[in-house]
Amino acid sequence: MSGPPEIVVCAGPDSLHERAARRFVQAARTAIGARGRFAVALSGGSTPRPLFERLADPGVAGAVEWDAVHVFWCDERCVPPDDERSNYGMAKRLLLDRVPVSGTRVHRIRCEDVEPAEAAERYEKELRETLSVTPAETPHLDFALLGLGSDGHTASIFPGSSAAAETTRLALAVPASEPGMADPVVDRVTLAPPALDAAREVVFLVAGSGKAPAVAATLEGPRDPARWPAQAIDPVDGDVAWLLDSGAAAGLSGFVEAVEEAT
Ligand code: 6PG
Repeated sequence: MSGPPEIVVCAGPDSLHERAARRFVQAARTAIGARGRFAVALSGGSTPRPLFERLADPGVAGAVEWDAVHVFWCDERCVPPDDERSNYGMAKRLLLDRVPVSGTRVHRIRCEDVEPAEAAERYEKELRETLSVTPAETPHLDFALLGLGSDGHTASIFPGSSAAAETTRLALAVPASEPGMADPVVDRVTLAPPALDAAREVVFLVAGSGKAPAVAATLEGPRDPARWPAQAIDPVDGDVAWLLDSGAAAGLSGFVEAVEEAT
C-alpha cells in the first residue's frame, strides 16, 4: 500500500458530496492533463446519488472534459438498465444523460442477458482492451468510487465471499445464492481486488450513522478482509481516501478533530 488512507470527515451530506465532487473534478483534470483521458469506475447504492446530481450540475459538469472520460462500474446488479436496481441505469439517469460523455466511452457491465461468469470475462476484456498498454499489464483506473454497506461489503464483495481473496481476475461473477449478499439479492458482477488495487485513486464515500460500526471495524479493527471486505482494497501505488459524514465517522477514535466543512 502507498500509505495510510486519508480520512476526511465532513459535517453533513452537503459538504460530503461537495467534497466528493471536487475530488472527482480534480482527479479528472490531473488524469486528462497527464494521460489525455480519465477512467473512472462508479458504484451503485443510494450514497452516490447526490454526488451524481452535483456532477451533472452545469456549474460542475463544465469543469470536466467529458469527451476524455471513460466510465466503468465497480459492480453491477444483473438486471436490465431500466430496472431501478441497475447501477448503470441510476448513473445514466442522474449523470450520464446530462453531460456530454460519448456513448462509446461508457463501459457498462452488461449482465442481464448473459451468464454472470461470461459477463465478468467480457468486462475484464473490455477493461484490459480500453486501458492496458500491453496485454500483460493490469489496467489502471484513474478513480474508483466505492461505497460501504453496513455489513462491511464494498462493490459486490460481501463478507465471507472468496472474492475478497482474489489475486488474479479483475472481474468476478457473484451469484445471488452467495450467502451474505445484501439487498438487492440478484446475480451480480464485481470488480475484484486486483482491478481496484491498480487504481490510481480509490475513494470510499460513506454517509450515515448506520455505517459507523462498519467504518470503524474496517479502518481501525483487526485485519480480517473476509469479514470486512473493504480491507481487501489495498492499492499498490494509488491513494485511498475515505470521505465520511460525521454519522459514518462516529465510531472512529478522534473523529471530532478531523471534522471539517467543505469550502
Ligand atoms: C451495489 C453497490 C454497493 C454499495 C453499498 C452501499 O451495487 O450494491 O455498489 O457496494 O456501494 O451497498 O450502498 P448504499 O449507498 O445504498 O448504502
